Amino acid sequence: MIKEIILSGIQPTGKLHIGNYLGALKNFVALQDQHECYFFIADYHSITENYEPNTKPQQVMELATDFLAAGLNPKKCTIFVQSHVAEHTELAWIFNCVTPISYLERMTQYKDKANQQQKNINVGLFDYPVLQAADILMYRVTAVPVGQDQDQHVELTRQIARFFNNRFGQTFTEPKTIHTDTPKVMSLLTPEKKMSKSLGDNHCLYIDDEPKVIAAKLAKAVTDTGDGQGLGARNLLDLIKIFSDDKTYKRFQAEKNSGTLKYSELKEILAQDIADYFADFRKRKKQISQKEVEKTLADGAKKAQAIAQKTMAEVRIKIGIR
Ligand code: TYM
Repeated sequence: MIKEIILSGIQPTGKLHIGNYLGALKNFVALQDQHECYFFIADYHSITENYEPNTKPQQVMELATDFLAAGLNPKKCTIFVQSHVAEHTELAWIFNCVTPISYLERMTQYKDKANQQQKNINVGLFDYPVLQAADILMYRVTAVPVGQDQDQHVELTRQIARFFNNRFGQTFTEPKTIHTDTPKVMSLLTPEKKMSKSLGDNHCLYIDDEPKVIAAKLAKAVTDTGDGQGLGARNLLDLIKIFSDDKTYKRFQAEKNSGTLKYSELKEILAQDIADYFADFRKRKKQISQKEVEKTLADGAKKAQAIAQKTMAEVRIKIGIR
């Protein structure tokens, strides 16, 4: 087996939904056993959105707690906060100077977010993918586990590596993207769109939702949007496939095919199985102390920064900034 160097980040913007979990975090936990892994909290990315400064420290701590409660182990991987390693923003500036504006103008996430926050289309939002490239290339990463919505950003990261190498000599390696079997979990209420907090709480199942909340949200989930494609039903069956046992999935799939499927029954079973799936997570989350989280982040920042400093020493020489 080839040992990869893996890195991924999640923004601290409140609770994680099952899309974040199934598309990213679940995979982080699996990868830490066999590879050299870096997982970080992308706080500088998160300030490109509208946010309340008072809540940010709490959101960072909560996400770090989620990382630990989901099973990330600081003995196996490096866990840190992006802003604790100032080299990320320094490298982003340097990458700004090799990245054509036209490449950023093509980014679909930028277009979507600009549309969502029309009164706050800031330069950071536009430059978001360049900071992401700095996060990744800093650690000579070979693979980036993300959901499908991030593919375009990782592709741009590869292009930025090439732009830099062509201009200043071979320095960065191009990472590949890795996906789980569920790289795009759909919204409960508008299943033609990906699950996303920006759509609203009832579109998402959060991984620390209490069982009652899960059941209430699933009860409202749409099954037939009249689109003729049955996207809502497909999404629910996909969730059954992940969270319930094989027999249950096969039964509901057969009932769907024969037109006898009762969605109220499917939703009740799914609610129970999702609640059970995250029961340990909810329990562990309550047991993790603030001290443990702070220590994890302090140790992680030290380890990450040692590598970042080395990369930056080389980069500064290459670009003629001494
Ligand atoms: P964020 O916080 O928006 O998303 C975190 C991860 O969750 C995945 N994801 C989904 N996967 C499946 N279905 C969904 N509905 C769904 N919604 C979100 C995202 O693809 C992501 O993997 N830009 C990154 C943060 C970042 C980063 C990086 C990632 C900053 N620097 C460097 C990798 C490498 C993001 O989207 O965060």
